[in-house]
Amino acid sequence: MFSLLGKVSLVTGAGSGIGQAIALLFARQGAFVWVVDRNAAAAESTVAAIRAAGGQGEAIAVDVSDPAATLALASRIPQVDLLVNNAGIGHVGNLLGTAAEDLDRLHAVNVRGPFNLCKTFVPGMLERRAGSVINLASIGGVLAVRDRLAYTITKHAVVGLTKALALDHSHTGVRFNAICPGRVETPFVKARIAEYPDPQKAYAEMASTQLNGRMARPEEIAAAALYLAADESAMVTGSTLLIDGGWSAGK
Ligand SMILES: NC(=O)c1ccc[n+]([C@@H]2O[C@H](COP(=O)([O-])OP(=O)(O)OC[C@H]3O[C@@H](n4cnc5c(N)ncnc54)[C@H](O)[C@@H]3O)[C@@H](O)[C@H]2O)c1
Repeated sequence: MFSLLGKVSLVTGAGSGIGQAIALLFARQGAFVWVVDRNAAAAESTVAAIRAAGGQGEAIAVDVSDPAATLALASRIPQVDLLVNNAGIGHVGNLLGTAAEDLDRLHAVNVRGPFNLCKTFVPGMLERRAGSVINLASIGGVLAVRDRLAYTITKHAVVGLTKALALDHSHTGVRFNAICPGRVETPFVKARIAEYPDPQKAYAEMASTQLNGRMARPEEIAAAALYLAADESAMVTGSTLLIDGGWSAGK
């Protein structure tokens, strides 16, 4: 079920957290994985884990917000069948705590990043009339998240990007979908929780926004990415798949 044998995938931000879990799962299901991250050592360690498990992949250190660098990837990578735009950054603050520079910084990575990678690899998919693009948005792409103004703006833009691409191009057979996780226990989130005076209380508070009272594991997000990458999801395009433990259901 959900074999990716013979597919070439590229996962951004695959040096850590959700991106790493997606890269490992795609490799396990038979895909070659280009592991892209601005942190070269992190990308290499994901590739080492892929190879140790018998999979195939290669690391590339690139900042997805750099249009020249992302465009240059095309000369090294002739074909990508599965593009996962996962690299993203956050910022805590409401309007008073958000500078224009904060918004620009998040926009460059969270919105221009996926846009840059699509500019590089979607034309080839359109020519081949096959491909799946998966953008990591967030619950913040569907609902406003308190004190996360810049993050909410940029993740709503990721959902908009996904829907617009699906509308313009899905008649070609290329699909575009967004995954919207609630809170996920990644190394980044764990490190932030550890900084609180009472980490257990901080975890419980963050987890309590989700009706089931816990955060997701990165592997639970990777499973959704696998479905959206696989041919079994051929009818799914332009969708925003919420994986939020019920957060968006109401309160
Ligand atoms: N963790 C959560 O609770 C959560 C919830 C909803 C959505 N998301 C989204 O999922 C994605 C992954 O989140 P995570 O928690 O796994 O993050 P993480 O911080 O654990 O990992 C992100 C990876 O992306 C890389 N990266 C950051 N900026 C980059 C850039 N400009 N170019 C290339 N690589 C870059 C980092 O080096 C890191 O390896 C993000 O888009 C995030 O917004 C996360």
